[in-house]
Amino acid sequence: MDKPVSTTELRSMKARSEKIVMVTAYDATMARLVDAAGVDMVLVGDSLGMVIQGHRDTLPVTLDQMVYHVRCVSRGLKRAHLIADMPFMSYQVSPEQALMSAGRLMQEGFAHSVKLEGGERSAPAIQKIVQAGIPVVAHVGLTPQSVHAMGGFKVQGRSQAGAEQVVADAMAVAEAGAFCVVLEGVPQDVALEITGRLDVPTVGIGAGPHCDGQVLVCNDILGFDSGFKPKFVKRYAQLEGVMVGAFQAYAAEVREGAFPDDAHSFQRTSPRAVGKLY
Ligand code: KIV
Repeated sequence: MDKPVSTTELRSMKARSEKIVMVTAYDATMARLVDAAGVDMVLVGDSLGMVIQGHRDTLPVTLDQMVYHVRCVSRGLKRAHLIADMPFMSYQVSPEQALMSAGRLMQEGFAHSVKLEGGERSAPAIQKIVQAGIPVVAHVGLTPQSVHAMGGFKVQGRSQAGAEQVVADAMAVAEAGAFCVVLEGVPQDVALEITGRLDVPTVGIGAGPHCDGQVLVCNDILGFDSGFKPKFVKRYAQLEGVMVGAFQAYAAEVREGAFPDDAHSFQRTSPRAVGKLY
């Protein structure tokens, strides 16, 4: 079995100016595919609340649901570093609650690290989790669990004061012990400044090209939803049409009796009829 990419290796990648590739996955099949593509980090994001569960935001996702999906993803990975997102209300109450939640994601989900949102305000929780030996990825800038406080999914740090706050948040989480910082929805000059000031790698989403790495949601990379196209997303495939087309072809063949044909059916005389189904 391959050794998963370690936090030390990720830090050395920053030192070597080697870009870090992160992508989300929510099940074992997608995990197998992204791992085969050689990505460095796989995030089981609470974005699953939107792309898997169909909610308008990530707030309804529970810790039990995250544990389930992280465990599924862990079965599909060989090499990539597995990050488990900590869902809304699984770490905000106290550092002790944060540690208990992080512990479940590691022990029951088989994650290699956990991710939580928030800058200065999340520093005590990060410190507590790191002290217990659990690596933490922080997430600052646009933090989707605070969508109602932010007044929507809006770019953060556009004003001078806002930019200074995002920088202060990034410094605080690194100081608290985070080994990596996700920068979401911030102007590229803010991301450049943070990336230059931190020893630990930054991974951007909607944060421009200057971060040490990039992350995108797997469904967006694959083009599962042609109606969802924020500026920062680049689609590397347009699978929505391909998939709908395949389901339509299947439906048509079932309706006209063309599927299953002999090639996809068993005969009493066939040796496969008494053997295994697949
Ligand atoms: O939940 C998620 O998928 C995330 C990434 C978009 C960074 O937090």
